[in-house]
Amino acid sequence: MDLSPIELIPEQTAAIVARERKVNRWVRGLDDRLGRWRLGGRRGDYDDQRFEFVGGAGEALRKKHYDKSLRLLWKAEEQIPWSSFRDCTKNEKVLLELAQGSLDGAERSHLQKIRSDEFRAFLDREYTPEQKQALVNILSTIGHGEAYAWMVSTELLSHGVKGTGARAALTMQVMEEAKHFVVLRELIHAFDCPVPRMSVWEYIVMERTLKSKGLEKFFGMNVLIEGFALNLFGLLGTLPGLEVLRLFHLDESRHTALPSNYFSEKPLTNRQKTGFLRRLRRSLLLAPTLPLMTYFEKDFAVLGLDVYDFAGSMLRKVGHLSDRVGFELLIPQEKLLPMVNRLFNQRASRTRRDHTFKKYHLAETTRGRAERAIEAEVFELNQSPAAAS
Ligand SMILES: [Fe+2]
Ligand SMILES: [Fe+2]
Repeated sequence: MDLSPIELIPEQTAAIVARERKVNRWVRGLDDRLGRWRLGGRRGDYDDQRFEFVGGAGEALRKKHYDKSLRLLWKAEEQIPWSSFRDCTKNEKVLLELAQGSLDGAERSHLQKIRSDEFRAFLDREYTPEQKQALVNILSTIGHGEAYAWMVSTELLSHGVKGTGARAALTMQVMEEAKHFVVLRELIHAFDCPVPRMSVWEYIVMERTLKSKGLEKFFGMNVLIEGFALNLFGLLGTLPGLEVLRLFHLDESRHTALPSNYFSEKPLTNRQKTGFLRRLRRSLLLAPTLPLMTYFEKDFAVLGLDVYDFAGSMLRKVGHLSDRVGFELLIPQEKLLPMVNRLFNQRASRTRRDHTFKKYHLAETTRGRAERAIEAEVFELNQSPAAAS
């Protein structure tokens, strides 16, 4: 290219470079020392020398989580057109309109309104007011959980995981949790029922998870809470009007698979896996999920569902995942599950007139065939690598 360079005095430009090097050595050296002495130092977990985040490239994680999330990205406007979401691109809208026939602007907004009213009417036809309220009570538990998932994944992204691939994976999780929260919120509002606050049991689990240190957040969030959400979406996604939950199920399956994919590249130390205090903290985090289940017994019963079937099915899978990831608890899974099952039977014998002993921990409440296949893969029930593409 024909460019006319400006002539500079070489000694002066060399002095500029040398000065920068000197100041750089001083600033970085000071930050290194402050970091070693735990007095602050560099905040950004980024290695600009290698043009990589601290922790390395992590290409496999990037492919399994970031790329896959983008491949499976779904839009609320397409899935629940009656909602207020306008997240489709121009091209996606053209495809949608081709499917709907050509409509002008006024017709389209009228159609959205009808759809919204229609959806509410559809819910009224399908469910009694009591059933609608029960669904709102259960779904709002997940809704509140999504708000915490959004906060926890944001913290894990800032101060938890290391490496470019892991950050890319967490970035997608943050985006998906944001989408889950706002979409679920609108879906729940469409039921036109009062939305309850979090139960105290949920509050304790969520707050403790948010306050957990570093990668321990993976246990509270990606194993326990998302294992719970995954099972709930697997149970409710086949109900009329709740089909969009099957897409939530797909997203959550990637989130639950993230810790094992991350630890396969950066394994936990033995102390991190089996340290007494860590096992105690995890067990205390798990404990409030038992009264939480009991709390929802009535809402499940209204929908013809046994909450302890759900709880048994969920805890078996979550326990399995926890073991696989290396998050040990105080009591090993083989002993814990029968213990919890006895507790559930005790509770059920108090709330039901003719209760007979049941093996709740062997139940399977995920309904769709696709969802069962996804869970078998994520929870490694069939021993294949989790959430591989
Ligand atoms: Fe979520
Ligand atoms: Fe999630």
